[in-house]
Amino acid sequence: MSYQKVKGTQDLFEQLALKYRYVEQVMTSMIKKFGYREIITPIFENTDVFVRGVGDDTDIVKKEMYTFKDKSDRSITLRPEGTAAVVRSFLENKMYASSNLTKLFYFGPMFRYERPQAGRFRQFNQFGIEAFGDSSPLLDADVINSAYQIIKRLGINNITLKINTIGDFSSREKYALALKKYFQPEISNFCSDCQSRLERNPLRILDCKVDQDQPLVKNAPKIADYLTIEAKEYFNKVLETLDSLKIRYEITPTLVRGLDYYTDTVFEFVINSQDETNNLTLCGGGKYSDLIKSFNGPDLPGIGYAFGIERLIYVLDTQNLLPSLDLNADVVIIGLDDKAKTASLQLANLLRTNGYTCELDYKNTNMKPQFKVAENKKARFIIIIGEEEQQNNSYTIKNTFTKAQISIPQSGIIKYLEENLL
Ligand code: HAM
Repeated sequence: MSYQKVKGTQDLFEQLALKYRYVEQVMTSMIKKFGYREIITPIFENTDVFVRGVGDDTDIVKKEMYTFKDKSDRSITLRPEGTAAVVRSFLENKMYASSNLTKLFYFGPMFRYERPQAGRFRQFNQFGIEAFGDSSPLLDADVINSAYQIIKRLGINNITLKINTIGDFSSREKYALALKKYFQPEISNFCSDCQSRLERNPLRILDCKVDQDQPLVKNAPKIADYLTIEAKEYFNKVLETLDSLKIRYEITPTLVRGLDYYTDTVFEFVINSQDETNNLTLCGGGKYSDLIKSFNGPDLPGIGYAFGIERLIYVLDTQNLLPSLDLNADVVIIGLDDKAKTASLQLANLLRTNGYTCELDYKNTNMKPQFKVAENKKARFIIIIGEEEQQNNSYTIKNTFTKAQISIPQSGIIKYLEENLL
């Protein structure tokens, strides 16, 4: 019997694990500058959190959730996204009581039963943010700006910010009626999901993965024609603020996003390139005015987004943007007899606790395999401890860059490294 990972999952190790941590570090350090603080919620929640939050007509809830009964017969779901869980926590912990504006970020695994392909997994990682409590177009623009600054810091090229407004509740009600009328005569040519969406939530037809390329979808009525004056003004102010921050965007009337909670501003950062990453959405988000209220919370708006980490790494790799992430050793210690091996471990301890990366071969006392370790670890210095060094209380130290080899007193090792390891 062979053991294999579950379809759509990945093992992250060596370079891939380093890339994951690199991306995490860049994103979290940037978002902290925008005043966001970390939240770590459980990986599973009561199923209702996502059914209520994401919407029971969405692909995520209808087809993609990992839902199971626990031993007490509770329905549990592995989180398919972060927003609903963060809203649940925001309310349960009454975070709204201590601040008018709560800004949170998260980084971690999400689970969706989707068809795996390049940049699409069943367990994937998201970096996301949510800001609760403030309804200002300036906040919308600054949220988008924070994603833009992360993209800039990572150096990503060929990326387009697509933006749209789906209006407030009353704009959307009028729009839904218009879509229903428009699709009705042709609905038999659509997939069975879209046929049931027509009655319940015709907006979802616009982002159906099966029917999205149908000309009828492309030529469907546009939300812009159904917006209230307030919704139009709000959107214009978001765009003006983006202009003032010199962030370019493409207004995309068909962008509605695949989750039900959005109102007003929605956006995505999408790759637009000649290579295989073309059309990948790296980040998606938007405003949600009614989600917190729908969880029986206060009437507070929220806005946020999430990046897909695997897609980000895929694009960074394709665009050759990852710095060297090798964990090279500063020092490899070579011990030439059993006593020297113990001395090597003591020296390694001294060097590590003084901040140097230090490795050694625990078993071999021959030169050759130990030099091999130094080569593999790309050590900057090799310290040799043999009989002579032990008698003289000295170390032989070799600079692998200049190839120079000298003898130094044991007591001078830290000073030597301080002066020579730049
Ligand atoms: P979403 O568009 O479903 O939004 O996902 C956000 C991002 O997660 C996508 O743009 C993509 O990069 C990544 N992603 C989604 N599914 C997969 C997958 N199967 N494999 C790899 N990457 C994937 C949300 O999840 C919202 N909660 C975002 C948000 C936060 N809106 C407001 N606040």
